[in-house]
Amino acid sequence: HLSVQERIDRKRNAALIGGGQKRIDAQHKRGKLTARERVELLLDKDSFVECDMFVEHRCSDFGMEEDHNKFAGDSVVTGQGRINGRLVYVFSQDFTVFGGSLSGAHAQKICKIMDQAMMVGAPVIGLNDSGGARIQEGVESLAGYADIFLRNVMASGVVPQISLIMGPCAGGAVYSPALTDFTFMVKDTSYLFITGPDVVKSVTNEDVTQEELGGAKTHTAVSGVAHRAFENDIDALLNLRNFFNFLPLSNQDPAPVTECHDPSDRLVPGLDTIVPFETTKAYDMLDIIQGITDEREFFEIMPNYAKNIVVGFARMNGRTVGIVGNQPKVASGCLDINSSVKGARFVRFCDAFNIPILTFVDVPGFLPGTSQEYGGIIRHGAKLLFAFAEATVPKITIITRKAYGGAYDVMSSKHLRGDVNYAWPSAEVAVMGAKVTQHTPERRCELRLAVCRGGRDGSQGNTTHT
Ligand code: COA
Repeated sequence: HLSVQERIDRKRNAALIGGGQKRIDAQHKRGKLTARERVELLLDKDSFVECDMFVEHRCSDFGMEEDHNKFAGDSVVTGQGRINGRLVYVFSQDFTVFGGSLSGAHAQKICKIMDQAMMVGAPVIGLNDSGGARIQEGVESLAGYADIFLRNVMASGVVPQISLIMGPCAGGAVYSPALTDFTFMVKDTSYLFITGPDVVKSVTNEDVTQEELGGAKTHTAVSGVAHRAFENDIDALLNLRNFFNFLPLSNQDPAPVTECHDPSDRLVPGLDTIVPFETTKAYDMLDIIQGITDEREFFEIMPNYAKNIVVGFARMNGRTVGIVGNQPKVASGCLDINSSVKGARFVRFCDAFNIPILTFVDVPGFLPGTSQEYGGIIRHGAKLLFAFAEATVPKITIITRKAYGGAYDVMSSKHLRGDVNYAWPSAEVAVMGAKVTQHTPERRCELRLAVCRGGRDGSQGNTTHT
C-alpha cells in the first residue's frame, strides 16, 4: 500500500546503494571507491544529472528473474555533469552489482549517453570496473559490447573520449578503452588483458601474475596500452579533472582559454645554456618544454613508454598546445617504432581537435638494426610522417640541435606544411652528422650558425629562422 512517491523513493534509495552495503564495504576494503563516489569526485559538486537510474536487466535465465537478482540501475551509473563548469557525459561501472558485468541493459545505458554526447558535442568519460560480459546473458552482452565499440568509432575525432580503468577490464571489454583517445589506470587495483593468467597458462604454459600481465606498470611502460597511471582512485580522478581542462568539448569547440598569470614575454635565460656545445652530450628536452609553457606546467602523455619522444599538453598564454619533442636523454632522441606510433597518435588527436602543435627537434635519425626493420619501422615511421603532413592545425617547429636525414623530414618539417620553422643557434640540419670533433666549441657554434642561415646547406631555404 505504498504511494507512488514512496515507491519511487524506495527505488531511488535502492539504486543509491547498488549491490548493498556488504559489497560496498568489500570495495572500500580493496582501496577502491564505489561507482557513485567516483562520479561525485570527478564532477563539480551537485552537477550530476543521472540517466536511467531505475533500469534493470531483462534476463530471465538462471534465476535472474528473481527479485533478489534485480538491482535498480543494474551495474552501471550513467549521466551528465560538469567539470569546472564544462559539460561531460560519464558512465561508471558498479562492481558491487554482478561484478560490474555488462548486461544488455548496461550496454544500452552507455550507448544512450554516448549518443547524447555526440549529438550535443561533449566528451565522454568511462570509469571501468567490470568482470566483463554478463555470463548469464551470453551473446546478448557480446552484442552490447559491439554496440559500444561502434559508438567509440563514430565518436572518434568528434568528441574526446577518455577511459579510466579502476578495476578489472578483461576479454572483449578491453577494446572500448583501446578505441578511446586516452586510457588511464589506477596503480595496483586495475588491470587490462584479453585473457587472464589461467588461460595464458593453459595455452602457452607461461606463469604470469595478473599484475605482470595487465597491471598499470605493464601497460604504461611495456605495452603502451595505457597513457598514464595514478596512485589511487582519488589521485586518478583529480588528475582527470585537471587533464579535462586542456581539451575542447568537441571538434567544433575551441579548447578553453584560462587566465594566464605567467607573462608570455618573460625572458628565460636558462634556455641559452640547456643545449650543450658537445653534439653528443645529452640534455633533457623537458627543461626546454617547461621553460616555455605557462607556469612550467606540462601534462605528459605516456611518460614511461617510448621515452625517446616526449608528448603532452601545456598552455601558452592561457591556450592549449600539444607539444612533441625528441628526447636526447634517451637513445639520443632517435625515432623508433614505439616512439613513431606514440607521436603519430598524439599528433592526430591534436589535429582532430584543433589544438596547435609545437615540435622540438633534436633527432639523429631512425634507430638502425634488424629488430627495428623486422618490426616494420618503415611502416610505423610513416605513421608519424603521415600525421604531421595531414595535420592542418597551426604547426610551429623548433630545431634545437640535430635534424638529420629522413627524421628531419618527418619531424614537422616545413615541407610537411609546418607554418613556422625555427632553428636555434645550435641547430644542425643535414643528411647525416658531420664529424666536427676536431673543432673548438666556438668554431662548432659558428658552423652551426652558418648551417642555419643556409650558408652551407641551401636545403633550409629562407623560411627557417634563426
Ligand atoms: N558475469 C556475471 N557475474 C559476474 C561476472 C560476470 N562476468 N564477473 C563477476 N561476477 C559476479 C561474481 O559471480 C560475484 O558474484 P557473487 O558474489 O554473487 O558470487 C561478483 O560478481 C564479484 O565477483 P568475484 O569473482 O567475487 O570478484 P573478484 O574480485 O574475486 O574477481 C573477476 C573479479 C573479474 C576477476 C572475476 O569475477 C572474474 O573472473 N569474472 C569473470 C571474467 C570473465 O571471464 N568475463 C567474461 C569475459 S568477457
